[in-house]
Amino acid sequence: MKTGRTRGLIRRPPGRALTLCLVLLAAFLGAMAARAQDDLRCLGCHGKPGFRKTLPSGQVLDLFVDPTPLRLSVHKDLSCVQCHADVNEVPHTTMPQRVNCKRCHYEGNTMGAPQTSKYLEFDKSVHNLALLAGNTKAPLCQDCHGGHFILSGSDPRSRVSRRHVSQTCGTCHIQIYGQYMESVHGKALTMGNKDAPVCTDCHGEHDIQGPKVASSSVNPANVANTCARCHSKIVIMKKYGINAEQVSTYKNSFHGIANEFGVLKAANCASCHTAHNILPPDDPRSSVNPKNIPKTCGRCHPGANANFAKGRIHVDPEDRSAGIVYWVALGFKILTLSTLAGLFIHIGLDLFRQVRARKSREAVLPARPTEENEP
Ligand code: HEC
Ligand code: HEC
Ligand code: HEC
Ligand code: HEC
Ligand code: HEC
Ligand code: HEC
Ligand code: HEC
Ligand code: HEC
Ligand code: HEC
Repeated sequence: MKTGRTRGLIRRPPGRALTLCLVLLAAFLGAMAARAQDDLRCLGCHGKPGFRKTLPSGQVLDLFVDPTPLRLSVHKDLSCVQCHADVNEVPHTTMPQRVNCKRCHYEGNTMGAPQTSKYLEFDKSVHNLALLAGNTKAPLCQDCHGGHFILSGSDPRSRVSRRHVSQTCGTCHIQIYGQYMESVHGKALTMGNKDAPVCTDCHGEHDIQGPKVASSSVNPANVANTCARCHSKIVIMKKYGINAEQVSTYKNSFHGIANEFGVLKAANCASCHTAHNILPPDDPRSSVNPKNIPKTCGRCHPGANANFAKGRIHVDPEDRSAGIVYWVALGFKILTLSTLAGLFIHIGLDLFRQVRARKSREAVLPARPTEENEP
């Protein structure tokens, strides 16, 4: 079989393989040419710099399209009408609708678009639910990813890369973006710090949910774990001289234990530090600066004064700087140890006494039991 096939190949006229290659090449070039031809139908108008239209409202539509960014994007092989699928005649008489990326981007697609569960995550997200409810301000795929210059998220030039994604979310969440950029995290991002959290580190990428949804990464029950992804990691925190015990001290605190038991009105990290305005405690604008403690704690503990947080919030009883808590914990430790030690000494002495008593009894008794001694 094997040799037969080989011989068959060898016997084939040498021109056949070449012809096949040429046919394939021609088909490829033909497709390219067809695409270019197809695109030229659009670029005849849209490729002219300065092509625009003034609407009756006075608004000017910039209709010029430079095809270069598209040819440098992940979609370099697509023709205009593969995305603008509703433009089926040229010139078109109706205003094209916004592009539906889901024509190709769904799990199980045969168009070569990545197969990822992220599409389903987006369907269930707050953004898609808002779209379905008719909120036209909620983002379509292209509002985050862009239109003609879409790149993979790992490309730093991408609108959804770590470097740019916060700005992309910020086009709609303007106020939060402003707060975030002023925070210790936003400042770190500006400095090019790769450890700094961006919007998607705390909120997710496609699976974004509001804080009221139980499964959300920013639901009160999950906030501590979201911050913990960085703040309980010694390797990360060591670089900035920040204590990595903040999460465990919180979890052992009154608030942390109450939160663990489902008392969601107990304080979580964001209740004290805010979510987007986070600043170091020594910054006078920080919600956890001693000056602002009455206001921060006072939201839930009416009448809290500046002394309310004295004794510190993140108290590690193992650490001497914890002050009174350290000494109380140490006192308890000594008390426990000395109680245990007393107990063991007591048991030890008791055993010793019993052994001694038995020995002296044995010494008094005759070596072999006599008849009188039998029970
Ligand atoms: C004869 C010139 C002409 C040709 C050819 C043409 N268009 Fe247009 N296009 C327009 C004009 C004018 C508008 C502005 C809306 C209107 O008047 O309908 C427009 C609007 C659009 C818009 C919407 C712009 C916006 O701001 O939302 C898209 C998308 C579009 N065209 C895509 C295409 C595609 C794809 C092709 C090729 C298949 C194409 N056009 C061919 C003239 C043209
Ligand atoms: C990957 C899909 C995709 C391809 C391919 C594509 N477009 Fe677009 N195009 C978009 C998106 C997304 C927008 C933004 C509007 C929207 O949300 O639909 C847009 C916007 C436009 C607009 C409105 C003006 C603007 O720049 O915002 C025109 C005109 C247009 N495209 C023409 C073209 C032409 C001509 C081609 C082919 C050279 C082309 N498009 C190829 C996705 C695509
Ligand atoms: C005609 C089908 C088609 C349409 C419509 C389409 N895409 Fe794609 N998309 C693809 C294909 C195919 C790839 C893979 C390209 C490759 O890997 O060479 C891709 C790749 C991508 C990637 C890169 C994923 C990665 O990380 O590698 C993103 C992001 C993307 N598309 C977003 C969009 C968005 C947003 C829209 C709508 C504006 C859109 N696509 C419309 C076919 C499509
Ligand atoms: C709220 C903003 C946002 C919206 C809306 C959005 N995406 Fe994304 N998308 C992202 C971010 C952020 C990433 C992650 C980028 C990275 O770091 O790789 C991503 C990643 C992707 C990837 C790469 C996935 C992978 O596993 O490599 C694809 C493909 C994609 N999105 C397509 C879509 C499509 C299709 C839609 C619409 C159904 C959509 N996105 C809607 C923000 C968004
Ligand atoms: C360090 C983590 C973190 C980062 C970074 C972050 N957020 Fe948040 N975000 C949260 C938490 C925690 C909540 C819930 C706060 C609450 O329950 O009051 C929240 C709530 C929200 C909400 C809904 C509640 C509201 O206040 O309206 C939106 C919208 C939001 N964030 C958008 C963003 C955007 C946009 C960015 C980036 C510019 C961002 N977030 C960056 C942690 C973060
Ligand atoms: C095109 C505009 C737009 C973009 C871009 C956008 N969002 Fe939103 N987002 C909205 C709208 C509109 C809502 C409100 C939905 C509602 O209230 O029902 C929303 C809701 C949210 C919520 C829930 C708020 C709540 O109180 O329940 C969060 C969290 C959020 N967005 C985070 C993000 C993040 C993170 C990004 C970037 C990855 C982002 N958004 C990008 C428009 C946008
Ligand atoms: C993706 C990692 C990451 C996440 C998630 C994160 N942080 Fe941070 N955080 C950092 C880094 C890195 C710094 C140090 C930045 C610097 O000093 O340049 C920092 C600094 C801080 C500081 C300032 C400490 C000081 O004394 O300077 C506070 C407070 C803080 N974070 C609280 C939080 C809270 C609360 C959350 C959750 C809502 C959170 N962080 C989520 C990485 C993270
Ligand atoms: C009840 C309010 C409260 C809660 C809840 C809380 N913190 Fe704090 N946090 C403070 C106060 C007050 C300070 C400043 C004084 C101190 O360090 O004890 C602080 C300080 C910090 C610092 C700075 C420490 C340093 O070394 O510079 C970080 C980081 C921090 N908290 C992170 C967190 C994280 C992460 C959580 C959740 C797991 C959290 N905090 C929960 C009130 C709180
Ligand atoms: C988001 C609301 C909230 C904030 C903000 C808050 N707490 Fe609390 N705190 C609670 C709740 C609720 C309890 C009661 C938990 C329980 O008993 O189930 C509690 C309990 C306590 C307790 C132990 C019980 C008691 O009443 O003596 C102390 C101490 C305490 N908080 C201190 C603080 C300090 C200090 C701050 C500010 C740095 C603060 N809390 C901020 C909600 C909050």
